[in-house]
Amino acid sequence: MGTLIIDGGKKLYGSVRVHGAKNSALPILAACVLTDGECVLEDCPALRDVEATGRILSRLGAEVRRDGDTLAVRAGDVVRQDIPDAQMREMRSSVTFLGALAARCGYAEVSRPGGCELGARPIDLHLAGLRALGAEITESGGRICCRADNMRGADVTLAFPSVGATENIMLAATAAKGRTRIFNPAREPEIVDLQDFLCALGADVRGAGGMTVEIEGGRPLHGARHRVIPDRIVAATYMAAVAAAGGAVLVENARPEQVSAVSAVLREAGADVCEQGSVIQVSAARRLAAVRPIKTQPYPGFPTDAQSIMMSVMATARGATMFVENIFESRYRHAGELMRMGADIRAEGRVALVQGVERLFGAEVHATDLRGGAGLVVAALGAEGRTRIGGTEHIERGYFGLEESLRSLGADISRE
Ligand code: UD1
Repeated sequence: MGTLIIDGGKKLYGSVRVHGAKNSALPILAACVLTDGECVLEDCPALRDVEATGRILSRLGAEVRRDGDTLAVRAGDVVRQDIPDAQMREMRSSVTFLGALAARCGYAEVSRPGGCELGARPIDLHLAGLRALGAEITESGGRICCRADNMRGADVTLAFPSVGATENIMLAATAAKGRTRIFNPAREPEIVDLQDFLCALGADVRGAGGMTVEIEGGRPLHGARHRVIPDRIVAATYMAAVAAAGGAVLVENARPEQVSAVSAVLREAGADVCEQGSVIQVSAARRLAAVRPIKTQPYPGFPTDAQSIMMSVMATARGATMFVENIFESRYRHAGELMRMGADIRAEGRVALVQGVERLFGAEVHATDLRGGAGLVVAALGAEGRTRIGGTEHIERGYFGLEESLRSLGADISRE
């Protein structure tokens, strides 16, 4: 268990580059199982979750080679179709191997995935979607067995636009003969990136980012080279860090339109956010102001993954800001840690009321999940005195080189 030590109150200046998106890289890595050709993924940083996914691929029989930020995967022979419980528990996205293995091998055996503890995280929509394609799925002794040697395209309507379920159905549908249509799919940029990768493999997938994703299954697939899109939550984290600590920073390799919900909130609070091409300039010269309620929504709404990060910014804003978490039922665990730093937060159920205080103070805090941990880093950068953040292994799941990047901006941050 690592500890980050941050002496807060230093303004941030300079530029920082956003790395490839974890939530794009993980389903794309699972998709590498679909072909025996070589897949080369650029800007695929060695995040903990990416490395764990690489180990799943290796165990299934794929060759996995890393060269800097480029990861090459060749699943020439898939020698196993099962993933052990311990590997499934490492992260939520392990569940996308269900659709990928079903498509490639006609069989998959997994258990329920792990990931950050944000309340109940069922996979009923994933399983219903695969069943609609003709997969036979049984569950016993904690294991999920999926027989899928005769999948056929079908219409699937998602009751909620689940990111993981949309991905799983897209992966499985590449091998289902005929046309699959996913109605009410997730519209996140990571879904579009997965579609782009699948098309590069030779699949016929269209509509991602819109209201229906269509897959014409059964096409032969081959290897491909693909560049992972920039991580919009990492971009949002750097933007929030400047808002909390003050200063002026260029966030490079970003897709401004993908963080527009976050930019809008920061502008409303009084920060300057200017966009030019793939660069977002953020500056904050004075104390920010509270904003209208921040309600998390599926994309393009305000992302649940940026909720904790923005809560840290609003903790010292002038006035009260209400947060409404609509995606996960239990996603305020960081609030208690922020209160150790002097924040005034009342959280109940899906609502949290943050009464801005003049300043936060350094304290001993603990990251209990990935984005909650990132929120604590943001808070500590703006706080007076020293904050020690334990549980940094959660943060490393999704941020690569965070310390070095923040240090290059002038933050006083080190590791114990
Ligand atoms: C993905 C992201 C995660 C992000 C989330 C929402 C990855 C690896 N993770 O998670 O960072 O916070 O999208 O943007 O990409 N649900 C069901 N049944 C299902 C599936 C989901 O009820 O079968 C519910 C979940 O409990 C949750 C909501 O739908 O309340 C959203 O979940 P989903 O979009 O599936 O998120 P993930 O794919 O798990």
